Amino acid sequence: MKIVITGAGGQLGKELLQLFKEEGYMVFPYTKQQLDITNRAKIKEMIEKIQPDYLINTAAFTQVDLCESDIDKAYLINGIGPYYLACEAKEKKVKFFHISTDYVFDGEKIEPYMEDDSPNPKTIYGKSKQLGEALVLDAYESSTIIRTSWLYGHEGKNFVNTIKKLARHSLEMRVVHDQYGCPTYTKDLGIALKDLLTKPHGIYHVTNSGSCSWFEFATEIVTFLKSQTVVIPVSTEEYGLKTPRPMYSVLSQKKLNSNGVSLRNWKEGLHEYLKKEDDENGH
Ligand SMILES: NC(=O)c1ccc[n+]([C@@H]2O[C@H](COP(=O)([O-])OP(=O)(O)OC[C@H]3O[C@@H](n4cnc5c(N)ncnc54)[C@H](OP(=O)(O)O)[C@@H]3O)[C@@H](O)[C@H]2O)c1
Repeated sequence: MKIVITGAGGQLGKELLQLFKEEGYMVFPYTKQQLDITNRAKIKEMIEKIQPDYLINTAAFTQVDLCESDIDKAYLINGIGPYYLACEAKEKKVKFFHISTDYVFDGEKIEPYMEDDSPNPKTIYGKSKQLGEALVLDAYESSTIIRTSWLYGHEGKNFVNTIKKLARHSLEMRVVHDQYGCPTYTKDLGIALKDLLTKPHGIYHVTNSGSCSWFEFATEIVTFLKSQTVVIPVSTEEYGLKTPRPMYSVLSQKKLNSNGVSLRNWKEGLHEYLKKEDDENGH
């Protein structure tokens, strides 16, 4: 089976490349330099050359604050690019998987978001990702959209790696205590994605199970690392973020579970990640 991964230089792309290779798939990774997903002619050329069975798009403009100031770029990469991929995948009957985000929701619910809850994004990033979802499904109905949240992977620029650095070099850190979501290890998302290749198409919420606040997430990391750094809980208002984040963006796993796929609790995934990082750094 041949799998093309776009956005392969990103944290999820790198993880999927390794995982699918280990599983015996023929993997064709494309970084941004190798394939810009906003270039439709290049996508067409690539699909004709490789003739993949599956196309997984992890490419995105993921910097939430920068999306606010570069709106055209956000809509182009997160909206139009996925549309081009879906159109060309449909043309050649390639199964298409597109990664999306909890930021398509407004965060005003107090219980986990279901796949059929109405999106109501509050940021340009969220709006551009929602446009991507809508255009993909419009162009190629049998695509699969995977919404995930609070992603971290090895080599990625992410919350866990930021907290790890602070835990090593700072006496204290301030972390928001009133925003809730679910941390997700790229490895666990990758394993679930592999299982979803053979499930019915549609929208799926895929995160580690359980939920927490950013403060609880940071505390778990600092505790695991046996760091003396003090984690100080602050409200969103006190912290003063430039771009608003959803206050509650836990994604329900019900649909995923009813299709026979489940992910471990976020703490278990986090501990494995931190242990692996530690081993690789020779500690
Ligand atoms: N990170 C999270 O917390 C999170 C949460 C929920 C959902 N997601 C979604 O999960 C997916 C993977 O995220 P990630 O964390 O792996 O992001 P990432 O590390 O930022 O990776 C995205 C990759 O896409 C590349 N890219 C940007 N523009 C491109 C273009 N025009 N053509 C081809 N590639 C392009 C980026 O390259 P450059 O870096 O060189 O621009 C980067 O290598 C994305 O769809 C994201 O929206 C992420």
